[in-house]
Amino acid sequence: MADSQSKMDRNLALEAVRVTEAAALAASKLMGRGNEKAADQAAVDAMRQALNALNIEGTVVIGEGERDEAPMLFIGEKVGNKNGPKVDIAVDPLEGTVLCAKNMPGSIATIAMADGGTLLHAPDCYMDKIAIGPGYPKGTVDLDAPVEENIINLAKAKGVKPTEITAILLDRPRHADKIAAIRKLGAAVSLISDGDVAGVIHCAEAKTGIDIYLGSGGAPEGVLSAAALRCIGGQMQTRLVIDTEALQERILKMGIKDAKKKYEIEDMVKGDCLFAATGVTTGAMLKGVTFGKEVIETETVVMRSTTGTVRRVIGEHRQLEKFHLD
Ligand code: FBP
Repeated sequence: MADSQSKMDRNLALEAVRVTEAAALAASKLMGRGNEKAADQAAVDAMRQALNALNIEGTVVIGEGERDEAPMLFIGEKVGNKNGPKVDIAVDPLEGTVLCAKNMPGSIATIAMADGGTLLHAPDCYMDKIAIGPGYPKGTVDLDAPVEENIINLAKAKGVKPTEITAILLDRPRHADKIAAIRKLGAAVSLISDGDVAGVIHCAEAKTGIDIYLGSGGAPEGVLSAAALRCIGGQMQTRLVIDTEALQERILKMGIKDAKKKYEIEDMVKGDCLFAATGVTTGAMLKGVTFGKEVIETETVVMRSTTGTVRRVIGEHRQLEKFHLD
C-alpha cells in the first residue's frame, strides 16, 4: 500500500496537530488585543519551537519571508531534530493576523508537510487562484476562462442553475469586476475580509454551501490550500502575480523560470502531503481557542493525502500556567 512507502508517516499527522495547536494557543493570548504583529510573533515562536522538537529533517519552503526579512521560519530555514525524513514544510503560523487582533471569525494556525523537494517554493507575492470542490470532471473551470463561463460550466456540472452557485472571494477592490460579473448572472457572492486558506477549503466542504473560490490572494496561502485539496479532493489552478522586476529576480533565484506558469495542484504539491489547521478565532471551518476555568480547548483539522482521511481533534489543555497573559 502506498502508505508504507510514504515518508508522510501517519504519526507525523498527530505531530502536526501539536505544532498548529501550539501556534494557535500562543496567538490566542493576543486575540482581540489589537496587535497583529505581536499575535503573529507569538504564533511563529511557538510553532518554531514545536517544529524543532519533531523527528524530521525539515526545510521551510513557505514561511514568514526571506531570510533577511524574517528572523524565524524564514524560507530555507532548517527545522526538526534531523532524526527523521526529509520534509518540505509550508507554514502560516497565524493566517488572518487582523482577524485574530480584532477577534473576528476565521483566524487559524496552519501547516502543510510533504516529502522533501515536492512543495512549490513560492515567494510572498499575490497568486491568482480558482478552486472548486471534488466530484467534477477535470477542466470544469479554468483560471483563464471568463468568470461567467466558469460559473455556467460549474452550474452545468453540478446540475443546477447559475443562480444556485455561490462564489467566495476576498473582499478587495481588485475583485470588483469579478464580483459584478458573478452577481450579473444571479449567482451569490460570499465575501471574506481575510483568510483565503479556509476560503479555498470551503469549496470542498459541502456544509459551507460554497461552490467556487475566485480571485487573488497570497501565494503562500495558495500552496497551503493546494495541500489541503490534495488531501480531500477538488480542483485548483493558480498563477503567481509577478509584477515587479524585484519579484522576477526573486522567483528566478527560487528556481522558477516561467513566471506565467499555470499551476495545477500536482505542480504545487508533487507528492504525498499532510495538512493541519487549528482554529484561533471561531470560523466556518474550525472552532477557536476557548478558555475555560481549568481547561483551554482547541479544535484542529488534520488530513493526509495518502488516505484522504480527515480527522478533527479536540485538544483539552490543562497546563494553564503556560497560557496566562503576562
Ligand atoms: P495575513 O494573515 O498574513 O494577514 O494574511 C491574510 C490574508 O487575508 C490571506 O488569507 C490572503 O491570502 C491575503 O491576506 C490577501 O492579501 P491582501 O490583504 O493583500 O489582499
